[in-house]
Amino acid sequence: QPLLKTAKIGQVMEYIDSCPSTQILAHKFAQEGAPDGTVVLTETQTAGRGRLARKWDSAPQKGIWMSVILRPDVVPQKAPQFTLVAAVAVVRAIEEVTGLKPEIKWPNDILLNGRKCTGILTELQSDADGIQALIIGIGMNANQELEDFSPEVRDIATSLKMMDGKTVDRQELVRSLLFYLEQYTNLYIEQGFKMLKIMWESYSSTIGRPVRARMAKETLEGIAEGITDEGVLQLRTNDGKLHGIYSADIEMKN
Ligand code: BTN
Repeated sequence: QPLLKTAKIGQVMEYIDSCPSTQILAHKFAQEGAPDGTVVLTETQTAGRGRLARKWDSAPQKGIWMSVILRPDVVPQKAPQFTLVAAVAVVRAIEEVTGLKPEIKWPNDILLNGRKCTGILTELQSDADGIQALIIGIGMNANQELEDFSPEVRDIATSLKMMDGKTVDRQELVRSLLFYLEQYTNLYIEQGFKMLKIMWESYSSTIGRPVRARMAKETLEGIAEGITDEGVLQLRTNDGKLHGIYSADIEMKN
């Protein structure tokens, strides 16, 4: 990988032609002791998975399907923040390579024109000593056409190519993505979430807007006021109460 612009992330790269899910492989490699920054990259997944056990479409040769193993020295409670850090890296990479202007929908969706082009799934291996490994899965729709998506997601998904008709160089995208991932995870580890929170909020389509948050047990409507330093979404309902949302599906209301 002579063209990598990183010192750590991607220095060990496991490239697999086809696999059920890079996420599953990365868990296995992490357990076997894969070093900090190991990247698992594939051309297609037969059982790609998303948040909340949803399935993730991974058309052959059309996207970037990868999982990054990190071994940061932070408490497990901080794992969700890595999703937000990765989201900023994804936005910067897409901007740099394509000139498109993506938005982030809390917590882990990257949108173009209101449709999802990238999803992020952060998973944790931890024990009494703390985080053993963080597995950050990133699925980026790069060169799909509408027919490459399964019918259920055709109304909500998009790809970079569907935005401007241009085929994206996936290698360039990976290179840029790994570069920003390294920059921003380092920034986060050295300086905390402050700076990244400002960047995250500037790219967010959620903050300042009326939203509906669907959670396992209830649905709340209100204004998304911001995120905390822990990455918790702050939702103000009509009765004036501020709710901290840890996990939900967000819908924009107009
Ligand atoms: C989501 O939006 O729900 C998260 C989607 C994450 C998809 C990526 S693709 C690479 C990695 N392997 C998987 O099985 N999932 C993640």
